[in-house]
Amino acid sequence: MSERLGTSARDIETAARALRAGRLVAFPTETVYGLGGIATDDRAVAAIFEAKGRPRFNPLIVHVADRAAAQALARWNKLAERLAARFWPGALTLVLPRAPGCPLSPLVSAGGDTVGLRVPAHPVAQALLEATALPVAAPSANPAGGVSPTTADHVAEGLGAAVDLILDGGPCRIGLESTVLDLSGGAPRLLRPGGVTRGALEAEIGPLAAGPADAGQAPRAPGQLASHYAPARPLRLEARSVAADEALLAFGPRPLAGARATLNLSATGDLAEAAANLFAMLRRLDRPDVRAIAVMPIPPRGLGEAIHDRLERAAAPRAGGERSGG
Ligand code: TXA
Ligand code: MG
Repeated sequence: MSERLGTSARDIETAARALRAGRLVAFPTETVYGLGGIATDDRAVAAIFEAKGRPRFNPLIVHVADRAAAQALARWNKLAERLAARFWPGALTLVLPRAPGCPLSPLVSAGGDTVGLRVPAHPVAQALLEATALPVAAPSANPAGGVSPTTADHVAEGLGAAVDLILDGGPCRIGLESTVLDLSGGAPRLLRPGGVTRGALEAEIGPLAAGPADAGQAPRAPGQLASHYAPARPLRLEARSVAADEALLAFGPRPLAGARATLNLSATGDLAEAAANLFAMLRRLDRPDVRAIAVMPIPPRGLGEAIHDRLERAAAPRAGGERSGG
């Protein structure tokens, strides 16, 4: 069993000490819970991969308290400055070239020459990073390929004793992971849609290069591959009807009738509410007594792009039950 703490100043101090001693601490962010370890400590970073069962080729996001701390770790450019000024702290991860002499473990970059950086907005994450005063590598705190955790209970159910401490900060406000934007090459490339919408990014820096689905482009974020974010039961998307042995993930004011169990992402059709509910509801509908989870159509605009991305990955065929990422 992992130890569960609240979010008092003392709890955060305890968690910061545990991190600095090389242990793993799960903590809330505004997107999802992260499984943190000191990003300059090879053994702590290796323990993160181990705890998640995550393939070593999938790099980790490094979290820091502020822009100055991020600037010391990577080679910055004008676009990165501009986006960080606009969206940090927040649900945006910037992929940049590692700085010369970068102190981060090579494992966070999966041996490559870039690093994903994020300054989270959640007050508990902020306080923890300030108290720790070191960069913290943190993937979503779930077994690789599974559904990301949006509560401390999800973390405990998924990782059990593999995590030393869990800071319980209640449910995550956004409920979807950060947007991952690659600024390490030529044109900025959206590697993973997330909490900051494409529209918000484009309003700041103009049109983005084609996304991860771009044919022929080698995927740069393994999180964009095949089966991921997946419940145990199969998903059926764009459902216009539902069977009696299915569960229904509804959206909007007119949920389909006849399912064994129904949860509504947002009865008013609000995409932010739907995003916040998505992972918790997928978990609750992933029950042994249903054959599949039918999902009603959701508009792909705004946060809907990230919702679609996660649902499509959750519905993707799984090679021998194997899952790729994080
Ligand atoms: O909201 C989030 O991003 C959460 C919270 C905890 O911050 N973290 C999270 O981490 O979702 P993870 O590891 O589950 O997903 C990180 C994604 C992966 O798809 C990974 O491949 C990509 O970001 N990524 C990380 N570093 C990268 C890099 N240097 N180059 C390309 N992709 C990178
Ligand atoms: Mg993940």
